[in-house]
Amino acid sequence: MKGIQMDSTFIDKIKEITKNKEYKYSIMTMGCQLNENDSEKISGILEEAGYTKTENLEESNIIVFNTCCVRENAEDRLFGKLGEVKKYKEKNGCIIIIGGCMMQEKQMVNKIKESYPFVDIVFGPHTMKNLPKDIYERILENKKIEDILDIDGEILENVPIVREDKIKASVAIMNGCNNFCTYCIVPYVRGRERSRSPIDIYNEVKELAKKGYKEIMLLGQNVNSYLVSERKENKDLEYIVTIENGEKRKVNSFATLLRLINEIEGIERIRFISPHPKDFTDDVIEAIKDCSKVCKFIHLPLQSGSTKVLEKMNRKYTKEQYLELVQKIRKKIPNIEFSTDIIVGFPGETEEDFKDTLDVVNKVKYEQIYMFIYSRRIGTVADKMENQIPEEIKHERFDRLKKIAEEIIEQKNKKYIGTIQNVLVEGKSKTNEKIYTGRTETNKVVNFEGNDGMLGKILPLQIISEHMWYLKGKQIM
Ligand code: SAH
Ligand code: SF4
Ligand code: F3S
Repeated sequence: MKGIQMDSTFIDKIKEITKNKEYKYSIMTMGCQLNENDSEKISGILEEAGYTKTENLEESNIIVFNTCCVRENAEDRLFGKLGEVKKYKEKNGCIIIIGGCMMQEKQMVNKIKESYPFVDIVFGPHTMKNLPKDIYERILENKKIEDILDIDGEILENVPIVREDKIKASVAIMNGCNNFCTYCIVPYVRGRERSRSPIDIYNEVKELAKKGYKEIMLLGQNVNSYLVSERKENKDLEYIVTIENGEKRKVNSFATLLRLINEIEGIERIRFISPHPKDFTDDVIEAIKDCSKVCKFIHLPLQSGSTKVLEKMNRKYTKEQYLELVQKIRKKIPNIEFSTDIIVGFPGETEEDFKDTLDVVNKVKYEQIYMFIYSRRIGTVADKMENQIPEEIKHERFDRLKKIAEEIIEQKNKKYIGTIQNVLVEGKSKTNEKIYTGRTETNKVVNFEGNDGMLGKILPLQIISEHMWYLKGKQIM
C-alpha cells in the first residue's frame, strides 16, 4: 500500500512554542514490539517538536502512555500509573496523553473519561498522524481531545523516529491482522492487514545501514502474509526496486522482501516477528536458507498443541501440520532453532489437550517459550465460550509448562558449552564495566569480558558456562 507522508505543519507550530524553553516528555511503552516501534515514532514527533526525553515523570511537561490490551494485566498497569501521574498534573499541569491499542476499546475510553478526567488526549493506533495537531490544540485551547478512528488508518511514511538502540533497529513492514484467532483482540484494535511498500521499507533499512545499524527486526502481526491482501486485490502486483548496484529486484511477497533486505550492505543480521505457521510457505523457507544475513532462528507461535483447541482458536493448522512444518524446516535448514508463544487455559482445554501441548514442546525443544495464561477479552469469540477454565487450573498448568520449558532450556544451554558462537555485541553490563553483552544468532544472551571497540561487531566467542537466561563466553585467542 502506498503510504501517506507525515505532515510537519503542526510539529513546526509546536516548535515555535517550545523554542528556548526546556520542555520535557516521558513515555511509557506497555505492549509488543510494534507498540515499541510506535513509541519510537511518538518520541520522534515530540523531539522534533522541541521536547527532550526524561525518565522523571515529575519534571515532564508531557507524559505519554502507549497502551496494549492483549491481556488483562496491561489494564491494571495503566490504571495504577494513572493514579500516580495525577499528583504531578496537580502540581505542574503537565499534559497527559494515552495512545495505543487499548484506546480502540470503547469501554476503556469511557472508563478513562469517567474515572480519570484529568487525561488530556486519547488517540489510537490509526490516528498517530494527528498527534502534533492534537497536542497543539491542547496547548492553545486547553480542551480535552478524543481522536480515535474506527476505520483502518493509512500507512504513514516519513514519521520522525528516535531509536534508543544504535545497533539493532525494528522496522514495521505491515500493520493489522486478518486472522481473528478467537482469543485475540489485536484484529479489532489494529484493523485489517496493510503492508508497506517494499520501496519504503528498503529505503528505511538502507538509511539505518548508513547510520551504522547491524541488525534489523522486521515487524508485523503476521509477517509472512506481507503483501498477501494487496495481491488479492491485484494478482499481478509486483514492485520493482532498484538496488545499490543498479540492478532491479521484483518484490511481491515476504520471501522476496527478505531477499531484498539481505542485499543491503552494512546490515549483518535480519530477524522477523511473528510469522503464522499457516502461511509458512516453501518460498519463505528457501529465502531463510539462501539469505546469509537472515538468522537461522524462527519464532513460530504454537498457541496450543491440541488439534481440537487449535480449531477452536481458529488457528487453521493441526498439531500434526505444525510438527510437519517444523520437520520440513529442520530438514532444509539443519542448524535452525525455534522459539514460540503458548497460551494455557483456553476455554474447554482438558488435561489431554494440555498434554498435547507438552508433547509438542518436548518434540520441538524450543530455545525459548513465551507463556501466557489465557485472558478473556471483551468482544472476542472465545470470551463467549462455555467451559472457561478456573484460575487455579490455569496457574497449575502454567507452572507445569514453565518447569518443562526450563528443563529443556537448561539441557539445550549445556550443548552450547565449548562451542564457538558468533555474537553480535550489543552493549555493556550496567553493574560491571568490563562485562559486555550480545546475542547469538539463536537469540541467546552471551556475557563476556570485552572492550568498547567490540560494540556493534560480530565476534566469535567460546561458550564457557550456562546460567539459564544467559551464557558466559570468552574471546578466542
Ligand atoms: N500476531 C502474533 C502475536 C500477537 S499477540 C502471533 O500470531 O503470533 C502475542 C501473543 O499473545 C500471542 O501469540 C498469544 O500467545 C498471546 N495472546 C494473545 N491473546 C491472548 C489472550 N487473550 N490471552 C492470553 N494470551 C494471549
Ligand atoms: Fe492475534 Fe492471531 Fe492475529 Fe496473532 S495472528 S495478532 S494471535 S489474531
Ligand atoms: Fe498489545 Fe497492540 Fe501489540 S494489543 S500486543 S500493543 S498490537
